[in-house]
Amino acid sequence: MIPQIEDWLGDEAANGYLAIPNFPPHIAKYVPSRLRKIEGNEKTRKFNFVMDAGCGNGISLIDYLPYFDKEVGFDASQDQIDRAKERVNSDAVTFLVGREYAFPASDNSVDLLLTVGALHYMKLTSFLGECERILKNTGMCAIYYRTFSKLLVHYPMKDKSQLADGSQFLLDYRNKLHEYFKEIQHPTAESFNRYQNIYDQITGFRKERTDDVTVDYDMTLKELKSFFCCIPTHRKYNKLFDEKSNPVDTMGENLKKLVNADDIKDEDLKLRFTVSMFFIFLYKEI
Ligand SMILES: C[S@@+](CC[C@H](N)C(=O)[O-])C[C@H]1O[C@@H](n2cnc3c(N)ncnc32)[C@H](O)[C@@H]1O
Repeated sequence: MIPQIEDWLGDEAANGYLAIPNFPPHIAKYVPSRLRKIEGNEKTRKFNFVMDAGCGNGISLIDYLPYFDKEVGFDASQDQIDRAKERVNSDAVTFLVGREYAFPASDNSVDLLLTVGALHYMKLTSFLGECERILKNTGMCAIYYRTFSKLLVHYPMKDKSQLADGSQFLLDYRNKLHEYFKEIQHPTAESFNRYQNIYDQITGFRKERTDDVTVDYDMTLKELKSFFCCIPTHRKYNKLFDEKSNPVDTMGENLKKLVNADDIKDEDLKLRFTVSMFFIFLYKEI
């Protein structure tokens, strides 16, 4: 199957995606800490070069600036690259339109190759070939993303300090979305699968995976809905339903009922949303 990326192209996708919340800074600290464990890198405080494949508007790459002298991000979408250039103003960072067939870097020049939530749209053999070509012998590739795992809801009543567990409504939403993308053979189905098939298909590198990092977001229902709906694939799915019965709003109504607050405004319902990260690290076999 040739990966379909049209959902990510164009002005609407790029403008909508500006609302995506960032990963917390400790994620960008964790990845170079793994790079520093490679023989020859132990004493390196600042690395030379990080490249981000499928960088979107640069939101993940920018957090790596404290650890690298130079950053290059590339993305298939001209509009995402335009938004990245508008939001990141640093001489150390370059954004380019590009795909996995030709990474914009010379041989053996990159310390860290990142790809965050984008590899499932790329042709894996091309990506791995370019990864092998551009990585230094002491370099590393970090592939990561997240799946939705837990959702707690604050009772709006002042005397209730407990949180209600609304995970079943989150997981119901997530599972239906996954089923839909499997059915239409959309590449994003593989991200719901935590890249297990991609991981199994990777050859020619020493590989490791880590699945035990979680990230909590304290946000309102309004912010959670905007999180989901700024992702073009979620919008595509929700648009299949009429306005009153779309799955994101249905989930929201169920969360309100759970805490006996049917009439509360979305911006007043407080949530703790947990995502579960998965990381794949690739090292050159020398
Ligand atoms: C889920 S977004 C992730 C963006 C960014 N890495 C982040 O952390 O927010 C996926 C990105 O991959 C890009 N993309 C999809 N297919 C691509 C390809 N074949 N080559 C380069 N970029 C691609 C899309 O345009 C989109 O910006």
